[in-house]
Order: sequence, then structure tokens, then C-alpha cells
Amino acid sequence: MSGNPAAGKALIQSYGCGSCHVIPGIRTARGMVGPPLFYYSRRTIIAGELPNTPDNLVRWIENPPAIEPGTAMPNLGVTDSQAHDIAAYLYTLR
Ligand code: HEC
Repeated sequence: MSGNPAAGKALIQSYGCGSCHVIPGIRTARGMVGPPLFYYSRRTIIAGELPNTPDNLVRWIENPPAIEPGTAMPNLGVTDSQAHDIAAYLYTLR
């Protein structure tokens, strides 16, 4: 995984992912709209759709509706390099 987890943590805060997700390590991330992201590195499937690989997680973060039309997770305009950083943080959750 090429991203920077510390940068990813800051991006998760600035994009407001925590308004919809409980995310370990991020105190303000308490949202209950989406699933909690506990132990993310151990998940086998992303959003019930894709095998949990680094490339697929980056694709999901960049544009969820492209993978699952109608999903409640919006396209937040995360760039490719930002998505790598965010995925790197989520993979620290073991
Ligand atoms: C408006 C609410 C909302 C926001 C903001 C949001 N998400 Fe989500 N997210 C969801 C929902 C709802 C799902 C479940 C999608 C599905 O299964 O269709 C989801 C699914 C996910 C998943 C897959 C979860 C699983 O169980 O496999 C990940 C990873 C994720 N979001 C990360 C993020 C990140 C990172 C951000 C910030 C860049 C973010 N989300 C912002 C609502 C949101």
C-alpha cells in the first residue's frame, strides 16, 4: 500500500467521513449512516461488492456510485493520491 496513513487520517477528518462512519482512532467519527470501519484490514468484501484489495478500496473511496449505483455513500471528490492515503489509514485498523 503506497499511501501515507497519517495523511489519510487527516483527510478522513477533513472530508467528514466520520459524519457517516464510526472509525477507530478518530474521536469525532461517530456517524451511523454507513457501517463502522472496525478492523478494516480484516474485511474480505468492500460494501458487499468487491474483494477487499488496496486497488479496490481506492476505487471505492474515489467513486462509490460507480461501483454500486444507488449507494448512500456519495462521490466526495477524493483524488487518487488522497484515496491511497485514506486506504493506508484504514489498513492500519487490524
Ligand atoms: C453520507 C454518508 C457517507 C459519507 C460522508 C461517507 N460514507 Fe462511506 N459509506 C456510507 C454508506 C451508506 C456505506 C455503505 C455502502 C453500501 O454498502 O452500499 C459506506 C461504505 C463505506 C466503506 C465500505 C464499508 C464496508 O463495510 O465494506 C468504506 C471503506 C467507506 N464507506 C469509507 C468512507 C470514507 C473513507 C469516507 C470519507 C472519504 C466515507 N466513507 C464517507 C456512507 C458514507
